[in-house]
Amino acid sequence: MAGNLSPIDTAKFVAAKRAVEYVEDGMRVGMGTGSTAAWMVRCLGELVRDDGLNITGVPTSTRTAELAQQVGINVVTLDEARWLDVTIDGTDEFDAELCLIKGGGGALLQEKIVATASDKMIVITDPSKHVEQLGAFPLPVEVIPFGWQTTKALIEEMMVSMDVLGHTATMRMNGEALYVTDEGNHIVDLHLTRIGNPRQMSLVLNQVPGVVENGLFIDICDVVVTGHADGRVEVIDINEGTHEESQIDFAEAENLFADI
Ligand code: 5RP
Repeated sequence: MAGNLSPIDTAKFVAAKRAVEYVEDGMRVGMGTGSTAAWMVRCLGELVRDDGLNITGVPTSTRTAELAQQVGINVVTLDEARWLDVTIDGTDEFDAELCLIKGGGGALLQEKIVATASDKMIVITDPSKHVEQLGAFPLPVEVIPFGWQTTKALIEEMMVSMDVLGHTATMRMNGEALYVTDEGNHIVDLHLTRIGNPRQMSLVLNQVPGVVENGLFIDICDVVVTGHADGRVEVIDINEGTHEESQIDFAEAENLFADI
């Protein structure tokens, strides 16, 4: 094991380390949000600092923007970059078709826009996020503040006719206050347990007035890189139809922690 690094952090680190191998000199790179994506930003920063990799990064949250700048990555907005070569991000769940639930970290809107504006989306994960069927993780739905209670009620009404097991909707909180996203919106978390038809769910949710976007990523992800605590990494490429395995040296992970 790599010193004090926990098994879960080792898994996240090796996934990130493998994923940044897709990044080449001159690329415009979308950078996701969350604890796994943070490892990817650190790995990219290391390549920029030590190997002189020349990239432009588009962050999906203020948190990621701050970390990217801290590790020396040239950060621009999506409007400045316009189109990206690759986006690397974490996930809350993924299934065999590489459909995702994202937004546990509250950044689903920017994450979906950035991933969709990329030639390739690579998801980095540990094995715990792999599911037979999406829905155990609460599905985040971003809603505008105006009339949010009405929007929530409309979503609850809509859920009754959907192929799901649970029907509870809760507002995401930040202490006593409603959680506010980088775009100034709120998040409704849908506790569905099982989503029978994620494609339909996503389309129907986005029809509700007041809904900005939902956390289902359908036909967006191209590659899932799963890291394991022993340094093994599995890469599933849905377009190539391949499933490869390799081993990553994770001895240096602690230095990346120490640098930040
Ligand atoms: C943020 C996200 C994250 O990618 C997702 O929540 C996974 O986070 P972590 O890597 O910390 O488990 O969608 O909106």
